[in-house]
Amino acid sequence: METKLCPIVAIANQKGGVGKTTSAINLAQALALQDLKILLVDLDPQGNATQGVGIPLESIHASISDIIRDRNFVVEGAIYKGDGLDLIPATPLLSRVEREMTSMTNSELRLSQRLQVLRSQYSLIVIDTPPTFGPLMNSALNAATQIIVPVDSSYFALMGIKELMAEVEEIQRGTNPTLSVLGYLLTLADPTNIANQTWDTLISSFGSAVFETKIRRSVKLKEAPALGKTIFHHAPDSVGAQDYLGLAHEVMTRLGIGELSSLLNQTKPTLSAIQGGCK
Ligand SMILES: Nc1ncnc2c1ncn2[C@@H]1O[C@H](COP(=O)(O)OP(=O)(O)OP(=O)(O)O)[C@@H](O)[C@H]1O
Ligand SMILES: [Mg+2]
Repeated sequence: METKLCPIVAIANQKGGVGKTTSAINLAQALALQDLKILLVDLDPQGNATQGVGIPLESIHASISDIIRDRNFVVEGAIYKGDGLDLIPATPLLSRVEREMTSMTNSELRLSQRLQVLRSQYSLIVIDTPPTFGPLMNSALNAATQIIVPVDSSYFALMGIKELMAEVEEIQRGTNPTLSVLGYLLTLADPTNIANQTWDTLISSFGSAVFETKIRRSVKLKEAPALGKTIFHHAPDSVGAQDYLGLAHEVMTRLGIGELSSLLNQTKPTLSAIQGGCK
């Protein structure tokens, strides 16, 4: 029987502060709450996703840097196990590794190759990416089967999308021909004219590729990472939790994974946060 390989979704936009990490963490957790086995990969030297799910820097013994650098490293050794949601963390060392990648053989294909072994063990792998084009972003675009593009609700929000799509096309023409856009996601939505205009422009530019769910700006979503908690552990009844569950619903439909029927009954976490320590 053929082994089923799970999708790999990178959350990508080279614009900073658009909600990539917030979306990676909370989408991953929302999907994990639907009885799916999710791996979150932090590919940003800032390590915001790692901190955001409550793994302190000092407790990290192995990270995504080891996976990229060392071909003999056993990938499972960098997985921090949670209940439904596992994490491969990033530390500031990753910025040095990115500089070293220019002199590594096949550097931008390594992540893709190394993640293959995990694709039969998870329902979905989510990659949080850095806010710059470079070897790490290219690695994510090579590894991904799809990308989600978060777009913040500001006047300049859509200005970098063309550049991002040019990079995606370059990768499609070269090393990852089947890479596609799973959807565009409006983030930091608020009741301003600018947010409404950004939404209208998104819809007129990308039509049904835009997720119907808008992620509203909310204090709880901003507070959660500082506490090392996902929104489902910090404020399970908040609008932020509702929005990311709505997004999870759409992602599951678009990817054709999981059971949707129980989705709306499971807004409360039954899990503890990810446990530190390598398995
Ligand atoms: N829906 C939201 N409501 C309120 N605050 C939010 C929301 N989404 C994100 N934020 C806050 O906005 C800031 C930027 O979000 P986030 O870190 O997710 O963006 P990013 O795109 O990953 O940033 P970077 O490009 O630096 O990696 C953070 O302080 C985060 O807590
Ligand atoms: Mg980030």
